[in-house]
Amino acid sequence: MSAIKALLLENIHPVAQSYLENQGIHVERLDKSLEEEALLERLQGFHLLGIRSKTYLSETFFEKAKGLLAVGAFCIGTNQVALEAASRCGIAVFNAPFSNTRSVAEMVMAEIVMLARRLGERVIQMNKGQWRKISTGAHEVRGKTIALIGYGHIGSQVGVLAEAFGMRVVFYDIATKLPMGNNQAKPSLLDALSEAHYVSLHVPETPLTKGMIGQAQLKAMRQGSYLINASRGSVVDIEALTQALQGGHLAGAAVDVFPEEPAANASDGFVSPLQNLPNVILTPHIGGSTDEAQVNIGTEVAVALSKYLKFGSTATSVNFPQVDLAPTPEAYRVLNIHKNVPGVLRDVNRIVSEQHANILAQVLATNADMGYLLMDLDKAVNGNVCDAMKGLPDTLVARALY
Ligand code: NAI
Repeated sequence: MSAIKALLLENIHPVAQSYLENQGIHVERLDKSLEEEALLERLQGFHLLGIRSKTYLSETFFEKAKGLLAVGAFCIGTNQVALEAASRCGIAVFNAPFSNTRSVAEMVMAEIVMLARRLGERVIQMNKGQWRKISTGAHEVRGKTIALIGYGHIGSQVGVLAEAFGMRVVFYDIATKLPMGNNQAKPSLLDALSEAHYVSLHVPETPLTKGMIGQAQLKAMRQGSYLINASRGSVVDIEALTQALQGGHLAGAAVDVFPEEPAANASDGFVSPLQNLPNVILTPHIGGSTDEAQVNIGTEVAVALSKYLKFGSTATSVNFPQVDLAPTPEAYRVLNIHKNVPGVLRDVNRIVSEQHANILAQVLATNADMGYLLMDLDKAVNGNVCDAMKGLPDTLVARALY
């Protein structure tokens, strides 16, 4: 892959560069993002682009980015990328949505203990010179029940850690989930809320989860229980939570995410009704922000890009159908990305048979915009097959891989 070149923007973790270089890819790095025109200019001759959250890739960008094969979004979300346009242009996009799972889970566990021992208040008091050696309102977490609302990557990881702390774990998820350890599924949200000393939210932002924890749900929680939200700000009605805390129904809360969050770091200006309440821990959306998560993101996306280039694997792509064909021994591999219209496979198979090659393996997957085909052939005619496929009217990209 010596001819392949990657441009990494926005100070992507160096682990990504090392990995790609070890795969024989030439890498150039910039520590900043570029505006569209400047990026298109700089990108000439590059096949891979790595970005983080500050580089916007529009529909026109993809239409003009000739020669670009794939984009690695070295971050969690891909709102900054025009994904449908990328698909239409045959450009695969990869991200790393679950690289910071452990980081969030560890912070949630830390907050549970902090709330139980009212550590936030003690720290503030000590900094003011106030010595308060108090046991009232301080608890162990062992033997207490935690309810996890949303039992996906993060929720289930918190379940494992909480059980190691000696907690009883129940969870509620709209999907049927295999419980980890002795974690126990509950049939409804209210069932889970009503028996927990701690409730921790781990659902995505969807129409169903918007305002999912409001006045009624807070009321259903036990007197003196605690709420932790490190999911999305829209999930909790902040006014209702403020009232539940002020009225003493909840004994504390830890909130990492807010309905409106500042776009950049600032030394002042953040306002929330939850500020300055007793035993409330507020953090600036840092649940997933660790060095380890950055390393994981760098590695995961670099591996996905390299597997796509080498083997045509689209596993974890956010805009391509997922295809991951195990290599067939002694085969020659070719890929074809095409518009999702009838008859493409027939034309491709005709080309293969005209080359007197045999198909050893073939996988086709489609989504609304495109079809993705991987084929292993028994003869080194993949270059000829590829050239002929490029001539088909609906082909977006055809590539001989090896
Ligand atoms: P995931 O997709 O692995 O799990 C989400 C789970 O929620 C799934 O099991 C899903 O079935 C369930 N779910 C969806 N709608 C539901 C509903 N209405 N009721 C009950 N369960 C429902 O996601 P993951 O990685 O565990 O992330 C969870 C949340 O954490 C997301 O909102 C994500 O944005 C947030 N997050 C926050 C970070 C931070 O820095 N604070 C960092 C990373 C993620």
